[in-house]
Amino acid sequence: MTAIYKFTNMKSCCRILNTLFLAPSLPKSSVVSPNPNYCSTFRLKAILGRTNSTWGQSRIFSSSCHFNFSTTARTHFLVARAAPDLRNFSASVESHANDKNFDRIYMQGGINVKPPPDEKIGADERVEVGENVRKSECSREAGKEESEMEKEAWKLLRNAVVTYCGSPVGTVAANDPNDKTPLNYDQVFIRDFVASAFAFLLKGEGEIVRNFVLHTLQLQSWEKTVDCYSPGQGLMPASFKVRSVALDDNKFEEVLDPDFGESAIGRVAPVDSGLWWIILLRAYGKLTGDYGLQERVDVQTGIKLILNLCLSDGFDMFPSLLVTDGSCMIDRRMGIHGHPLEIQSLFYSALRCAREMLALDEGSKNLVRAINNRLSALSFHIREYYWVDLKKINEIYRYKTEEYSTEATNKFNIYPDQIPHWLMDWIPETGGYLIGNLQPAHMDFRFFTLGNLWSIVSSLGTLRQNEAVLNLIDAKWDDLIGQMPLKICYPAVESEEWRIITGSDPKNTPWSYHNGGSWPTLLWQFTLACMKMRRMDLAKKALDIAEKRLSLDGWPEYYDTRSGKFIGKQARLYQTWSIAGYLTSKILMEKPDAAALLFWEEDYDILENCICALSNSNRKKCSRRLAKSQILV
Ligand code: GLC
Repeated sequence: MTAIYKFTNMKSCCRILNTLFLAPSLPKSSVVSPNPNYCSTFRLKAILGRTNSTWGQSRIFSSSCHFNFSTTARTHFLVARAAPDLRNFSASVESHANDKNFDRIYMQGGINVKPPPDEKIGADERVEVGENVRKSECSREAGKEESEMEKEAWKLLRNAVVTYCGSPVGTVAANDPNDKTPLNYDQVFIRDFVASAFAFLLKGEGEIVRNFVLHTLQLQSWEKTVDCYSPGQGLMPASFKVRSVALDDNKFEEVLDPDFGESAIGRVAPVDSGLWWIILLRAYGKLTGDYGLQERVDVQTGIKLILNLCLSDGFDMFPSLLVTDGSCMIDRRMGIHGHPLEIQSLFYSALRCAREMLALDEGSKNLVRAINNRLSALSFHIREYYWVDLKKINEIYRYKTEEYSTEATNKFNIYPDQIPHWLMDWIPETGGYLIGNLQPAHMDFRFFTLGNLWSIVSSLGTLRQNEAVLNLIDAKWDDLIGQMPLKICYPAVESEEWRIITGSDPKNTPWSYHNGGSWPTLLWQFTLACMKMRRMDLAKKALDIAEKRLSLDGWPEYYDTRSGKFIGKQARLYQTWSIAGYLTSKILMEKPDAAALLFWEEDYDILENCICALSNSNRKKCSRRLAKSQILV
């Protein structure tokens, strides 16, 4: 049988050729060299004979494969159903070329792999997952009946499910039948699906999440090109769509078509996608008990690729991750380039998840060491420099500037005049929060909700800081919750600031959309944070507010105005993560045991590591007790 591959550039083509030549028992004559007639697109034709070799048994080129990498003028690519198998070795070759365990990983990944995602879940696993489903359903039965609103939400969520070759693989971003111009809202967004995934997992339905994890994993390792440039391997797409493509014989085949930012408005890089993917993978294991998924060689490789990308050295002086504007939930220009809090807290969570999931062996030990070091440095950095409360603002207010020394108090040379007037009035006596961003001579004092909530969930903040954030939300309820939970950020940028920061963006006008709009999807993250800090009262109050309007208003994407009074100007209706966020909040409240699996307590090893590094001149001080006593701030 014959499989034909088209590649966007020489690099990816060579990678595959090398791999094929590396395979000891594949007849070399079966590989045809790149054809120069294809200009920058190279074709590799592998004649897959029935050989006696191990390749014959390999899943890599199974006889049912149809590869069709269409790389036409639009430089994105389509991944056909059989692609997962090829992934197993294309990823392995590059990322493990220097790995001592390369051979083992390579052979396992390529030949003895566990079933690819489009094969059905194995019998054993089905029992395991099924058991969890049953357990979960039982506990639901023991609980209270679903309300009409919950029933409606489940119906809508199920209608939003996207299938690929007959299996559920995700949910579309919005599913409004009256919307004639869905743009990319008919795609499965990685970050949006997390809310759906949690709802399904908490309901005991793991299959869709498992499929999603595995299919997005395949998309990760494909060569992607944006205007002749390939971003780093390991990047996860922002979204994907299932398309039908015509085959030669009048038949159609479904393919996954990912968007890595090359079609996205503003060409923004989805830095958060890979971080969410890792967080979701851990949650899947915790909630289903199916740890086999994270143990798979291809999944382990996926985690490593994401981390390699995040942990690679650059010019940066900070342990926080340096990103461009719009690289997360706020995927438009909003002045959050640099080191935005949301990315830092997701990064921290993903590092903690990865540390739990990575198989410890020779091949991963350097990576695990790098993760531990980064966790320590990152938590110190954020706790120390991002935190503000009344006392800290007063300190900044009295800062001396232009200090040249390693001992400087005002390390980032913040000019006190930068403290905005609104903040002086707004900051309550009790409570505090992590600021939105920190750069030389610049503190972005806006309150960004997702970053603060996820810092609580992951214990990026100290216990006292976590409590203080919820105290602040309580004290500033009308500003941050108002008539619809929750403000994406506070306050909005207005006038000249709006013009400069957003680039005069008509969608991000003051108190709309990303610029101070209210996003119901944030409710589930708020609920989780409240449950962790035993502030169920706050979660319940916010849920009650949302319940009054969400269904009546048609489950909008976001609300506008200072208090979140109006449905957003350009908000989609039947927005899936608004629906799923509500359901996830409801189930979390009913299942505190399940919720407890999804957040992290303080890790004193991380602290100890940092305290030791800071006081390495005095080894006596290096202890867990000291770490506990000096929980930084
Ligand atoms: C908007 C949001 C983004 C979300 C997407 C799909 O672009 O800013 O966070 O993922 O819509 O809902």
